[in-house]
Amino acid sequence: MIKVAVVGSASMDLVVTSPKRPGAGETVLGESFKTVPGGKGANQAVAAARLGADVYMIGCVGDDHYGKAILQNFKENGVHTDYVEPVTQTKSGTAHIILAEGDNSIVVVKGANDHVTPAYVEKIQHVIRESDIVLIQQEVPEETVEYVSNLCHKLGVPLLLNPAPARALSENIIEKATYLTPNEHEASVLFNGLSREEALKRYPNKVFITEGKRGVRYYDGEKEVLVPSYEVEAVDTTGAGDTFNAAFAVALAEGKKFKESLQLANRAASLSVTKFGAQGGMPTREEVEGSL
Ligand code: RIB
Repeated sequence: MIKVAVVGSASMDLVVTSPKRPGAGETVLGESFKTVPGGKGANQAVAAARLGADVYMIGCVGDDHYGKAILQNFKENGVHTDYVEPVTQTKSGTAHIILAEGDNSIVVVKGANDHVTPAYVEKIQHVIRESDIVLIQQEVPEETVEYVSNLCHKLGVPLLLNPAPARALSENIIEKATYLTPNEHEASVLFNGLSREEALKRYPNKVFITEGKRGVRYYDGEKEVLVPSYEVEAVDTTGAGDTFNAAFAVALAEGKKFKESLQLANRAASLSVTKFGAQGGMPTREEVEGSL
């Protein structure tokens, strides 16, 4: 069984559905309100577990009701919680999501996720050393992303860095990460001044740009390759990127080639958008393989 460590955020998503997205200074009447587990790190951990990996979450929650619910959700999905620490006097991270007009808008309040510091990860670096692959995103402090990149590089453990939400990265982090999976906007922040073609060519088999409905693009050392996504009727696109990243990481850790890994990841992501909530539609391994 592939062992995956996820260093990242675990939050509660507060989701409003509305026929219209309010503009600045505007109030609109919504349709529904739900709270569901989310956070990019937690989403990737749950997605990897549903795909059959042995997953260790490294993160922090608040000592509040949401923190307890987040931990319970990990347990129900078979994610190890030994390294998810409740932080006293701190609120759990929350994501305030509006689903309107076929897309989402999100404001994240990091809360306890800011306590996922280099010192916190350092205490449990054996988990990283024993993993087949590590996943990290950018809802934890920038110093932690740098620390984990250096650590994985030193230990020879592959690191998949999902640079979401967008934040400029040091050249050191880009060099040390094994794989980077920006969307088009994140790629423009990361490789400011380079065209998409130049960025892909500079990092062959390392940078994988996700282009939504078009698919995923990378440079294989000789040419650009576009692995197309699958068309589905989308109910909620929240968490599609997280499902993609988890499935891609699991497939790579299993030794699959890039193209096959990306096909599996695209398929998993396409299934994830067919149900409400970041984790609601995340498929099992059987569901992905059965639909390929
Ligand atoms: O990637 C989707 C996630 O981003 C949501 O679950 C929300 O928590 C935000 O952080």
